[in-house]
Amino acid sequence: MRGQGRAGTRLSQELTTLRQRIAELEALNAGRERAEKELRRSEATARALLESAAEGIVIVGSDGRIVLANARAAEMFGYPREELTGQTIEVLLPERLRTGHATHRAGYFGEPRVRPMGLGLDLAGRRKDGTEFPVEISLSFVESEDGLLAMAFITDVTERVQLERIARQSEKMAAVGSLAAGIAHEINNPIGVITSRVELILMEAREKGLPPGVTRDLQVIEKHAGRVAKITQGLLSFSRQAPWKLTDTDVNQVVEEALLLVEKQFTKERIALEKNLAAGLPKIAGSPNHLEQVLVNLLTNAREAMVGGGTVLVESRRAHEMIEIRVTDTGPGIPPEVMARIFDPFFTTKDEGTGLGLSISYGIVREHGGTITIESRPGGGSTFVIHLPIRETSTEEGTLHGERADPRHR
Ligand SMILES: Nc1ncnc2c1ncn2[C@@H]1O[C@H](COP(=O)(O)OP(=O)(O)OP(=O)(O)O)[C@@H](O)[C@H]1O
Ligand SMILES: [Mg+2]
Repeated sequence: MRGQGRAGTRLSQELTTLRQRIAELEALNAGRERAEKELRRSEATARALLESAAEGIVIVGSDGRIVLANARAAEMFGYPREELTGQTIEVLLPERLRTGHATHRAGYFGEPRVRPMGLGLDLAGRRKDGTEFPVEISLSFVESEDGLLAMAFITDVTERVQLERIARQSEKMAAVGSLAAGIAHEINNPIGVITSRVELILMEAREKGLPPGVTRDLQVIEKHAGRVAKITQGLLSFSRQAPWKLTDTDVNQVVEEALLLVEKQFTKERIALEKNLAAGLPKIAGSPNHLEQVLVNLLTNAREAMVGGGTVLVESRRAHEMIEIRVTDTGPGIPPEVMARIFDPFFTTKDEGTGLGLSISYGIVREHGGTITIESRPGGGSTFVIHLPIRETSTEEGTLHGERADPRHR
């Protein structure tokens, strides 16, 4: 009995231990399930963050291969996402930067830090179709089971770069504008006097007969005085001190009138003028004379670019809340170094040019709340694109220089 009693106690002890062990195991299991759930949740959170990020995020291994790219990065670079994984990061760079980048990349893995990339440099990304766009990148890193991973946060700064360019251009124009107005004002009167006197003498010369040498000299003076007058006129309209009124303007009519003005010269130089104007366009609040000047400037540039003939196409259409006018020529196109300065006052590549045509046009279009942009392929012609906002003259911004439109003038 005694012996049996001892055995019974041991059994019950073992049972208790076993129960405890089972309870412990159960607790452990519950803990693991919780941990797994937690892990899954944090993974989902991380993935959601990655996917909803406004920045492109690309994660790269130490061998330079892309481990992961988020949706925004794929969209930014124009790749289907699965195509990015496994590629070297250098495919996202313009070719000229690739070799240098591979070296920098190795350097980064040697000494990883959280930092912006190439501070002060103009960084560029390369889309799948080969086009480039300006980017800003900041770098970070994580330790993972597969070793060190570098993370690049990429922002497409195309829009900001454009806005900065416009702001710089406006500043430049404002500075040149007030100086130009002052000078032009001073020159305008004397040059008028000189021109009319020379014209008088030339008239007398024809009646009374002056030595031919003198007549020729006078003609030279007349020609150059005319050029000075042209520059002064240009400067005055460039600085545009007098405010102008906006009226309901039919853009197509403005285009037609501009075409009439240049037609003769185009025919003479064997340049075909084609037009494709959308019917029924809404009117805009505009200054027809100034807009006509813009078109004449663009058409004249197109003609001057096409030595030996070609074709100019003028188009108009509605583009959302804008009217779009396109002037396309079959000239030589515009090289990048010219493009960079094309709207600058006095920038010209022509012997007889003043370099004011486009800066004046730029100012006029901007005063209408519009934009001029250029599409040019060297060797393949140029297209100047004007966008003018559709709005009625009666709105608050109805007149230039912030004046309220007078309803009596409508
Ligand atoms: N359609 C075009 N094709 C090629 N180059 C162009 C075109 N339009 C303008 N350019 C370039 O831009 C420069 C500046 O043009 P802009 O009209 O401001 O001045 P300009 O034509 O030289 O002189 P101005 O208009 O005062 O007679 C030109 O000298 C030319 O090099
Ligand atoms: Mg010009």
